[in-house]
Amino acid sequence: MAIERTLSIIKPDAVAKNVIGQIYSRFENAGLKVIAAKMVHLSEVEAGQFYAVHKERPFFKDLVSFMISGPVMIQALEGENAILTNRELMGATDPSKAEKGTIRADFAQSIDANAVHGSDGADTAAAEIAFFFPGMQVYTR
Ligand code: PPS
Repeated sequence: MAIERTLSIIKPDAVAKNVIGQIYSRFENAGLKVIAAKMVHLSEVEAGQFYAVHKERPFFKDLVSFMISGPVMIQALEGENAILTNRELMGATDPSKAEKGTIRADFAQSIDANAVHGSDGADTAAAEIAFFFPGMQVYTR
């Protein structure tokens, strides 16, 4: 098993619901360590850059508007198979299709407000961690 890092975002809906701690418990119980974290209110430019890969998709504007609607909690997670482990904890993009017991099934309302983001692959994870935690802001513990 490989030790990996992945980028996780607790989105504005879940921050507003006051479930950051409950989501962190799920990371910890799955063996994922928080190695960097910050709460920020993203600007439209930052959210647009982060989701630039989706800029041609019909939901891009709504996604950016939602992501700047309130503060988000951003963390880099480290652990065995962290990328897939986090994706499994999150559940399907559409909460109505997410498996019971996943973060999205338990805390998300809709595909537009789906509680969490997680990197979907190794290259994406490296780029997304560098985007939010450049330089020395990520530690190994
Ligand atoms: S993925 O992860 O790229 O396979 O998922 P995908 O379904 O392609 O969605 C990409 C991101 O867009 C969000 N999304 C939406 N936002 C608003 N409205 C609609 N209809 C919608 N559909 C998808 C989805 O949550 C993904 O965001 P992140 O932050 O990566 O989860």
